[in-house]
This record gives sequence, structure tokens and C-alpha cells, in this order.
Amino acid sequence: MQFFDQKKIREEYEHRRCLWGLEPNRYVKQIPDFVKKGRVLDIGVGEGRNALYLAERGFAVTGIDILDVAVEKYLKIAQEKGLDVKGEVIDAREYEPEGEFDVIICTATMHYFKEKEAQEIIEKMKRHTKKGGINLITTFTKEDIGFKEYPDFYFVGCEDELKEMYKHWDIIKCENYIKHDTHDKPHDHHIAVLIARK
Ligand SMILES: C[S@@+](CC[C@H](N)C(=O)[O-])C[C@H]1O[C@@H](n2cnc3c(N)ncnc32)[C@H](O)[C@@H]1O
Repeated sequence: MQFFDQKKIREEYEHRRCLWGLEPNRYVKQIPDFVKKGRVLDIGVGEGRNALYLAERGFAVTGIDILDVAVEKYLKIAQEKGLDVKGEVIDAREYEPEGEFDVIICTATMHYFKEKEAQEIIEKMKRHTKKGGINLITTFTKEDIGFKEYPDFYFVGCEDELKEMYKHWDIIKCENYIKHDTHDKPHDHHIAVLIARK
């Protein structure tokens, strides 16, 4: 069974103003405390709630997503807000970013990848981050409801797993939290978050 049901998400993106809401992730809101300006890359940008928040704060933002409807919506909302952002429709597994970024974020997207793919994307994020720059990852843990159904996909085992991948970076934050979601039937997500500085 395919975990990432592109057809379903595409339809929801097409028929709802904002599937994931426009409220940015609570950890994305903290980024300006750590980096004041520069280039941001958002992997799996969706409708852009995080990318737009950072663009509003003066960052030069690029968002990529495998779904054209997502990128179109993110660019449309940016235009409505008078924000100059970049967007690209591309599979994160094939994407090779241009140059280095001050901030690279990937929120609620790693669980669409197999473990090896997720690790490769994280390595790519690290390679394309400037010295002193930040990576932010939020991703589901093995306690999440999704893991039982989709054990072949990437769910983080424990906080240390993300820390280990960033062992040569300064760890700013590494913790787990539970998020109540209502985009489908109401459900809780178990989420691990890591913010690290190169
Ligand atoms: C749950 S949404 C999260 C969107 C956004 N990061 C947020 O936090 O609001 C996950 C996004 O990842 C995108 N995605 C899934 N697989 C992808 C891939 N292989 N490459 C790029 N984007 C992908 C989906 O299309 C979707 O927009």
C-alpha cells in the first residue's frame, strides 16, 4: 500500500483553502531567534505556512514540493501577501539544491520517505547549509499512529537518533511533543524535533 496518497492530498489541496492551516509550526517561529537573515530552503513546503512566515520576516525563501498544486498554492498565497518567494515542483529525493542556505527546514515530511531516503535527504540538508546555519526537522516518531500502519517508512525511534545524525553540529533543541490534528478524523501525532547549528 502506498503511504503517500498523492491523489488524495492533491484533491484536498485543490478543494480546501489550507489543509495544514496557515499557522506556522511552533519551532519555525523560533528560527529568527537563531538566524536573523539569509536564504531558507523548505523541503516539502506544502501550502507554505512555514515558508511564508519566514519570508514575512525578511528571509529569501525557496520552497520545494513534489505536488504542483502545493507549490502553486504556496506561490499564490505569497503573491496575495506581496511576498517574493521561489517555488519548485520536484521530488526531494532527486533535488540537488543550488548553493548553500542559512536555514533548511523539513517539517512533517520525512515520514513520506523510506529510512535510507530520509537519511540521504538529511545528509543533503547538512551539505547545503552554511557554516553557522540552522537545520530544523520535525518528524513522526515510532509512537505515532502512522508507524503501525506504515512500518516501512521513516519514523524516528528516539530523540538520540536525530542527535546522532547531527553529532558534529551544535544541538540547539532536540525533543518530542504531541500535536492534536483535525485535518482528518481528530488524531494525535507524536513528533520529534531537532534544531541544530552547523
Ligand atoms: C504533511 S505536508 C507538510 C507541509 C509543510 N511542510 C507543513 O509543515 O505545513 C507534507 C508535504 O510533503 C510533500 N512531499 C511528499 N513527498 C515528497 C517528496 N518526495 N518530495 C517533495 N515533497 C514531498 C507533500 O506533497 C506535502 O505537501
